[in-house]
Amino acid sequence: MSTKIAIVIGSLRKDANSKRLAKAFASLFPKDYQIFTPEIGHLPLYNQDYDNSPDEPSSYTDFRKEISSADGVIFITPEHNRGLPAALKNAIDVASRPWGQSGWNGKPAVVISNSNGVIGGFGANHQLRQSLVFLNMRVLAQPEAYIGQVQTLVDADGKILSEDTQKYFQSIVDAFIQLIQD
Ligand SMILES: Cc1cc2nc3c(=O)[nH]c(=O)nc-3n(C[C@H](O)[C@H](O)[C@H](O)COP(=O)(O)O)c2cc1C
Repeated sequence: MSTKIAIVIGSLRKDANSKRLAKAFASLFPKDYQIFTPEIGHLPLYNQDYDNSPDEPSSYTDFRKEISSADGVIFITPEHNRGLPAALKNAIDVASRPWGQSGWNGKPAVVISNSNGVIGGFGANHQLRQSLVFLNMRVLAQPEAYIGQVQTLVDADGKILSEDTQKYFQSIVDAFIQLIQD
């Protein structure tokens, strides 16, 4: 049976650098891994009143099922104002509930932050890790992934533009696969 990896992308932008990176990282997994990218932009703002209610939006139900079906999760996100984007935090909250039914629980995860600048989304990366640790995800510690000046590393089709970058990205994927298998 194939291993299912969800890539959750923190940017809603059509031509997002984070989407380029998602294509690049998806290409580095062995063929028997099934990679999918659940949408997060259509999820209404999380409201606890919807939990265990007939009014639960169908988008919540579908997203929760998608996350529950994954064997591991890759978060690829930009930084917004030195924190994680609101759409991504919303998606994390949605799949964390109803209480006791979190789809994130126990899953291996890797956080890949990125920016056009040199800091590589360090603030977003660690703010995101704070929630993932609480949600009992097994978050990859090393190699760290703060991808600065991302537009120079990967083209619009997700092609990795240098051998050094290819090796670095592959080392992240290999460590993540090891974490899944541990
Ligand atoms: C609202 C907003 C806030 C931003 N804040 C940061 C920031 O804190 N740090 C940073 O490095 N870049 C910041 N940027 C610039 C983003 O790195 C840049 O827009 C990048 O392309 C976003 O990633 P994406 O292409 O995946 O959407 C911000 C951009 C926006 C729109």
